Amino acid sequence: MATNVTKEAAAGRSPEPVVRLNGVGKLYGNVRALRGIDLAVRPGQVTCVLGDNGAGKSTLIKIVSGLHQHDEGEFLVDGNPVRLSNPRDALNLGIATVYQDLATVPLMPVWRNFFLGSELTRGRWPVRRLDIERMKRITDEELSAMGIHLDDLDQPIGTLSGGQRQSVAIARAVYFGARVLILDEPTAALGVKQSGVVLKYIAAARERGLGVIFITHNPHHAYMVGDHFSVLRLGALELNAARADVTLEELTNHMAGGAELAALKHELAQVRGVDVEELPETVQTPSA
Ligand SMILES: Nc1ncnc2c1ncn2[C@@H]1O[C@H](COP(=O)(O)OP(=O)(O)O)[C@@H](O)[C@H]1O
Ligand SMILES: [Mg+2]
Repeated sequence: MATNVTKEAAAGRSPEPVVRLNGVGKLYGNVRALRGIDLAVRPGQVTCVLGDNGAGKSTLIKIVSGLHQHDEGEFLVDGNPVRLSNPRDALNLGIATVYQDLATVPLMPVWRNFFLGSELTRGRWPVRRLDIERMKRITDEELSAMGIHLDDLDQPIGTLSGGQRQSVAIARAVYFGARVLILDEPTAALGVKQSGVVLKYIAAARERGLGVIFITHNPHHAYMVGDHFSVLRLGALELNAARADVTLEELTNHMAGGAELAALKHELAQVRGVDVEELPETVQTPSA
Protein backbone atom coordinates (compact mmCIF):
# COMPACT_ATOMS: atom_id res chain seq x y z
CA MET A 1 0.00 0.00 0.00
CA ALA A 2 2.89 2.32 0.79
CA THR A 3 4.12 2.11 -2.81
CA ASN A 4 0.64 3.00 -4.06
CA VAL A 5 0.66 6.08 -1.91
CA THR A 6 4.02 7.19 -3.29
CA LYS A 7 3.09 6.45 -6.87
CA GLU A 8 -0.16 8.33 -6.66
CA ALA A 9 1.38 11.20 -4.78
CA ALA A 10 4.09 11.44 -7.45
CA ALA A 11 1.38 11.57 -10.11
CA GLY A 12 -0.21 14.41 -8.14
CA ARG A 13 -3.34 12.40 -7.40
CA SER A 14 -4.96 11.64 -4.08
CA PRO A 15 -4.86 7.95 -3.15
CA GLU A 16 -8.22 6.15 -3.22
CA PRO A 17 -10.05 6.45 0.09
CA VAL A 18 -10.07 3.43 2.42
CA VAL A 19 -13.27 4.69 4.03
CA ARG A 20 -15.88 6.76 2.28
CA LEU A 21 -19.26 8.00 3.48
CA ASN A 22 -21.82 9.25 0.96
CA GLY A 23 -24.83 11.13 2.29
CA VAL A 24 -24.81 9.22 5.58
CA GLY A 25 -27.61 9.92 8.09
CA LYS A 26 -28.43 8.60 11.54
CA LEU A 27 -31.57 8.79 13.64
CA TYR A 28 -31.89 8.04 17.35
CA GLY A 29 -35.68 7.59 17.55
CA ASN A 30 -36.96 10.95 16.32
CA VAL A 31 -33.66 12.68 17.00
CA ARG A 32 -31.77 13.24 13.79
CA ALA A 33 -28.15 13.08 14.91
CA LEU A 34 -26.58 13.16 11.42
CA ARG A 35 -27.69 13.95 7.89
CA GLY A 36 -26.02 14.09 4.49
CA ILE A 37 -22.50 13.34 5.68
CA ASP A 38 -19.82 12.95 3.00
CA LEU A 39 -16.39 11.93 4.21
CA ALA A 40 -13.28 10.38 2.66
CA VAL A 41 -10.37 8.88 4.59
CA ARG A 42 -7.29 8.31 2.46
CA PRO A 43 -4.04 6.51 3.30
CA GLY A 44 -1.33 8.90 4.45
CA GLN A 45 -3.79 11.70 5.21
CA VAL A 46 -5.35 13.17 8.35
CA THR A 47 -9.06 13.98 8.11
CA CYS A 48 -10.13 16.28 10.94
CA VAL A 49 -13.71 16.22 12.17
CA LEU A 50 -14.54 19.37 14.10
CA GLY A 51 -17.68 20.58 15.80
CA ASP A 52 -19.20 21.89 18.99
CA ASN A 53 -20.71 19.65 21.68
CA GLY A 54 -23.71 17.80 20.30
CA ALA A 55 -22.67 18.41 16.67
CA GLY A 56 -22.59 14.68 15.95
CA LYS A 57 -18.86 13.88 16.06
CA SER A 58 -19.18 10.85 18.32
CA THR A 59 -22.15 9.52 16.37
CA LEU A 60 -20.12 9.77 13.17
CA ILE A 61 -17.17 7.82 14.53
CA LYS A 62 -19.46 5.27 16.18
CA ILE A 63 -20.76 4.45 12.70
CA VAL A 64 -17.26 4.15 11.19
CA SER A 65 -16.00 2.11 14.15
CA GLY A 66 -18.89 -0.37 14.01
CA LEU A 67 -20.68 0.58 17.26
CA HIS A 68 -23.75 2.00 15.49
CA GLN A 69 -25.30 1.51 12.06
CA HIS A 70 -26.19 4.29 9.63
CA ASP A 71 -29.84 4.73 8.58
CA GLU A 72 -29.25 6.62 5.35
CA GLY A 73 -26.60 6.86 2.66
CA GLU A 74 -23.61 4.66 1.89
CA PHE A 75 -20.61 3.50 3.91
CA LEU A 76 -17.84 2.14 1.68
CA VAL A 77 -14.59 0.41 2.63
CA ASP A 78 -12.13 -0.02 -0.25
CA GLY A 79 -15.00 0.93 -2.55
CA ASN A 80 -17.35 -1.80 -1.28
CA PRO A 81 -20.57 -1.01 0.61
CA VAL A 82 -20.41 -2.33 4.18
CA ARG A 83 -22.67 -2.60 7.18
CA LEU A 84 -20.68 -3.24 10.33
CA SER A 85 -22.35 -5.08 13.22
CA ASN A 86 -19.71 -4.45 15.86
CA PRO A 87 -16.21 -3.03 16.45
CA ARG A 88 -14.69 -6.45 15.65
CA ASP A 89 -16.04 -6.13 12.07
CA ALA A 90 -14.36 -2.73 11.82
CA LEU A 91 -11.05 -4.08 13.18
CA ASN A 92 -11.12 -6.91 10.65
CA LEU A 93 -11.28 -4.26 7.92
CA GLY A 94 -8.36 -2.42 9.53
CA ILE A 95 -10.38 0.34 11.22
CA ALA A 96 -9.14 0.90 14.79
CA THR A 97 -10.42 3.40 17.34
CA VAL A 98 -8.50 4.97 20.21
CA TYR A 99 -11.08 6.26 22.68
CA GLN A 100 -10.59 9.16 25.03
CA ASP A 101 -10.90 6.93 28.08
CA LEU A 102 -8.16 4.54 26.97
CA ALA A 103 -8.82 0.87 27.61
CA THR A 104 -5.62 0.29 29.58
CA VAL A 105 -4.93 -1.37 32.90
CA PRO A 106 -3.05 1.34 34.83
CA LEU A 107 -1.11 -0.99 37.14
CA MET A 108 0.12 -3.31 34.40
CA PRO A 109 3.46 -2.69 32.66
CA VAL A 110 3.58 -0.83 29.35
CA TRP A 111 4.43 -3.98 27.34
CA ARG A 112 1.57 -5.90 28.96
CA ASN A 113 -0.88 -3.18 27.95
CA PHE A 114 0.56 -3.13 24.44
CA PHE A 115 -0.44 -6.79 24.03
CA LEU A 116 -3.57 -6.69 26.17
CA GLY A 117 -6.08 -9.22 24.82
CA SER A 118 -3.62 -10.46 22.16
CA GLU A 119 -0.83 -11.86 24.36
CA LEU A 120 1.96 -13.83 22.73
CA THR A 121 2.61 -17.27 24.16
CA ARG A 122 5.17 -20.00 23.66
CA GLY A 123 5.22 -23.72 24.20
CA ARG A 124 2.15 -25.99 24.04
CA TRP A 125 -0.46 -26.71 26.64
CA PRO A 126 0.09 -27.69 29.50
CA VAL A 127 3.38 -25.79 29.56
CA ARG A 128 2.18 -22.85 27.53
CA ARG A 129 3.20 -19.52 29.01
CA LEU A 130 3.47 -15.88 28.10
CA ASP A 131 6.35 -15.03 25.81
CA ILE A 132 7.44 -12.06 27.87
CA GLU A 133 10.78 -11.54 26.13
CA ARG A 134 9.20 -11.36 22.70
CA MET A 135 6.40 -9.05 23.84
CA LYS A 136 8.91 -6.69 25.43
CA ARG A 137 11.13 -6.72 22.36
CA ILE A 138 8.26 -6.01 19.96
CA THR A 139 6.84 -3.28 22.18
CA ASP A 140 10.27 -1.65 22.26
CA GLU A 141 10.67 -1.91 18.47
CA GLU A 142 7.20 -0.61 17.70
CA LEU A 143 7.43 2.34 20.08
CA SER A 144 10.86 3.25 18.67
CA ALA A 145 9.50 3.06 15.12
CA MET A 146 6.97 5.72 16.11
CA GLY A 147 9.68 7.81 17.76
CA ILE A 148 8.42 7.02 21.27
CA HIS A 149 11.20 6.51 23.80
CA LEU A 150 10.34 5.30 27.29
CA ASP A 151 12.93 4.64 29.99
CA ASP A 152 11.37 1.45 31.22
CA LEU A 153 8.77 -0.79 29.55
CA ASP A 154 8.19 -2.49 32.92
CA GLN A 155 6.75 0.65 34.48
CA PRO A 156 2.98 0.62 35.03
CA ILE A 157 1.26 2.38 32.13
CA GLY A 158 -0.58 4.48 34.71
CA THR A 159 2.67 6.28 35.50
CA LEU A 160 2.95 7.63 31.93
CA SER A 161 1.61 11.06 31.02
CA GLY A 162 -1.70 11.29 29.18
CA GLY A 163 0.10 12.15 25.95
CA GLN A 164 2.45 9.16 26.27
CA ARG A 165 -0.45 6.78 26.92
CA GLN A 166 -2.25 8.05 23.80
CA SER A 167 1.00 7.51 21.87
CA VAL A 168 1.32 3.92 23.08
CA ALA A 169 -2.31 3.32 22.02
CA ILE A 170 -1.55 4.72 18.55
CA ALA A 171 1.59 2.55 18.17
CA ARG A 172 -0.43 -0.47 19.31
CA ALA A 173 -3.13 0.11 16.67
CA VAL A 174 -0.45 0.47 13.99
CA TYR A 175 1.24 -2.79 15.07
CA PHE A 176 -2.04 -4.72 15.03
CA GLY A 177 -2.63 -3.78 11.41
CA ALA A 178 -4.80 -0.65 11.46
CA ARG A 179 -5.17 1.09 8.11
CA VAL A 180 -7.56 3.67 9.47
CA LEU A 181 -7.03 5.13 12.91
CA ILE A 182 -9.87 6.99 14.64
CA LEU A 183 -8.88 9.29 17.50
CA ASP A 184 -11.76 10.69 19.57
CA GLU A 185 -10.67 14.02 21.07
CA PRO A 186 -7.20 12.75 22.02
CA THR A 187 -6.02 16.22 23.03
CA ALA A 188 -9.18 17.37 24.87
CA ALA A 189 -7.92 16.65 28.38
CA LEU A 190 -4.28 17.55 27.74
CA GLY A 191 -2.17 20.66 28.26
CA VAL A 192 -0.22 22.37 25.48
CA LYS A 193 2.95 20.29 25.79
CA GLN A 194 1.16 16.93 26.02
CA SER A 195 -1.09 17.89 23.11
CA GLY A 196 2.06 18.52 21.10
CA VAL A 197 3.23 14.98 21.92
CA VAL A 198 -0.02 13.47 20.62
CA LEU A 199 -0.02 15.65 17.47
CA LYS A 200 3.51 14.45 16.75
CA TYR A 201 2.36 10.80 16.79
CA ILE A 202 -0.67 11.59 14.67
CA ALA A 203 1.81 12.91 12.11
CA ALA A 204 3.94 9.76 12.59
CA ALA A 205 0.92 7.52 11.93
CA ARG A 206 0.23 9.46 8.74
CA GLU A 207 3.87 9.07 7.66
CA ARG A 208 3.44 5.32 8.04
CA GLY A 209 0.61 5.45 5.51
CA LEU A 210 -2.41 5.27 7.82
CA GLY A 211 -5.56 7.23 7.19
CA VAL A 212 -6.34 9.14 10.38
CA ILE A 213 -9.69 10.52 11.53
CA PHE A 214 -8.86 13.13 14.15
CA ILE A 215 -11.86 14.33 16.18
CA THR A 216 -11.30 17.62 17.96
CA HIS A 217 -12.96 20.89 18.78
CA ASN A 218 -9.64 22.71 18.67
CA PRO A 219 -9.08 24.27 15.21
CA HIS A 220 -5.44 25.03 16.07
CA HIS A 221 -4.68 21.37 16.80
CA ALA A 222 -6.57 20.34 13.67
CA TYR A 223 -4.70 22.78 11.46
CA MET A 224 -1.30 21.61 12.71
CA VAL A 225 -1.74 18.10 11.31
CA GLY A 226 -4.84 18.09 9.09
CA ASP A 227 -5.02 17.46 5.33
CA HIS A 228 -8.79 17.76 5.22
CA PHE A 229 -11.32 19.48 7.47
CA SER A 230 -14.96 18.58 8.06
CA VAL A 231 -16.88 20.86 10.41
CA LEU A 232 -20.15 19.49 11.80
CA ARG A 233 -22.97 21.66 13.02
CA LEU A 234 -26.26 20.24 14.31
CA GLY A 235 -25.55 16.95 12.56
CA ALA A 236 -24.75 18.38 9.13
CA LEU A 237 -21.51 19.30 7.39
CA GLU A 238 -21.01 23.03 7.59
CA LEU A 239 -17.60 22.95 5.96
CA ASN A 240 -15.85 20.19 4.03
CA ALA A 241 -12.58 21.46 2.67
CA ALA A 242 -9.07 20.38 1.75
CA ARG A 243 -6.21 22.17 3.47
CA ALA A 244 -5.41 24.20 0.36
CA ASP A 245 -8.94 25.65 0.38
CA VAL A 246 -9.21 26.85 3.98
CA THR A 247 -7.12 29.06 6.27
CA LEU A 248 -6.74 28.61 10.02
CA GLU A 249 -8.67 31.86 10.45
CA GLU A 250 -11.62 30.55 8.44
CA LEU A 251 -11.55 27.27 10.32
CA THR A 252 -11.53 29.08 13.67
CA ASN A 253 -14.41 31.23 12.50
CA HIS A 254 -16.50 28.22 11.52
CA MET A 255 -15.81 26.69 14.93
CA ALA A 256 -16.67 29.90 16.73
CA GLY A 257 -19.93 30.06 14.76
CA GLY A 258 -18.76 33.06 12.73
CA ALA A 259 -22.12 33.59 10.98
CA GLU A 260 -24.08 33.31 14.22
CA LEU A 261 -21.82 35.79 15.98
CA ALA A 262 -22.17 38.23 13.09
CA ALA A 263 -25.98 38.00 13.36
CA LEU A 264 -25.83 38.50 17.12
CA LYS A 265 -23.66 41.56 16.67
CA HIS A 266 -26.20 42.95 14.24
CA GLU A 267 -29.01 42.45 16.77
CA LEU A 268 -26.99 44.04 19.54
CA ALA A 269 -26.35 47.05 17.35
CA GLN A 270 -30.09 47.44 16.77
CA VAL A 271 -30.90 47.14 20.46
CA ARG A 272 -28.35 49.77 21.32
CA GLY A 273 -29.45 51.93 18.40
CA VAL A 274 -25.97 52.19 16.98
CA ASP A 275 -24.49 51.46 13.62
CA VAL A 276 -23.01 47.97 13.23
CA GLU A 277 -19.85 49.56 11.90
CA GLU A 278 -19.36 51.39 15.20
CA LEU A 279 -19.10 48.17 17.22
CA PRO A 280 -15.63 46.87 17.97
CA GLU A 281 -14.34 44.52 15.31
CA THR A 282 -14.26 41.36 17.42
CA VAL A 283 -15.90 39.14 14.84
CA GLN A 284 -14.54 38.57 11.41
CA THR A 285 -16.82 36.92 8.91
CA PRO A 286 -15.21 34.30 6.70
CA SER A 287 -14.08 35.80 3.42
CA ALA A 288 -14.92 32.73 1.36
N1 LIG B 1 -27.58 7.14 22.06
C1 LIG B 1 -28.23 8.28 21.77
N2 LIG B 1 -29.58 8.36 21.86
C2 LIG B 1 -30.25 9.49 21.57
N3 LIG B 1 -29.65 10.62 21.15
C3 LIG B 1 -28.31 10.62 21.04
C4 LIG B 1 -27.53 9.45 21.34
N4 LIG B 1 -26.21 9.76 21.15
C5 LIG B 1 -26.18 11.04 20.73
N5 LIG B 1 -27.43 11.57 20.66
C6 LIG B 1 -27.78 12.91 20.21
O1 LIG B 1 -27.22 13.10 18.92
C7 LIG B 1 -26.65 14.40 18.81
C8 LIG B 1 -25.17 14.32 18.48
O2 LIG B 1 -24.46 13.83 19.62
P1 LIG B 1 -22.91 13.39 19.58
O3 LIG B 1 -22.67 12.57 18.38
O4 LIG B 1 -22.58 12.79 20.88
O5 LIG B 1 -22.19 14.82 19.42
P2 LIG B 1 -20.68 15.26 19.76
O6 LIG B 1 -19.84 14.05 19.89
O7 LIG B 1 -20.29 16.12 18.60
O8 LIG B 1 -20.75 16.06 21.02
C9 LIG B 1 -26.95 15.13 20.11
O9 LIG B 1 -28.14 15.86 19.93
C10 LIG B 1 -27.14 14.00 21.08
O10 LIG B 1 -28.01 14.38 22.13
MG1 LIG C 1 -18.48 13.40 21.50
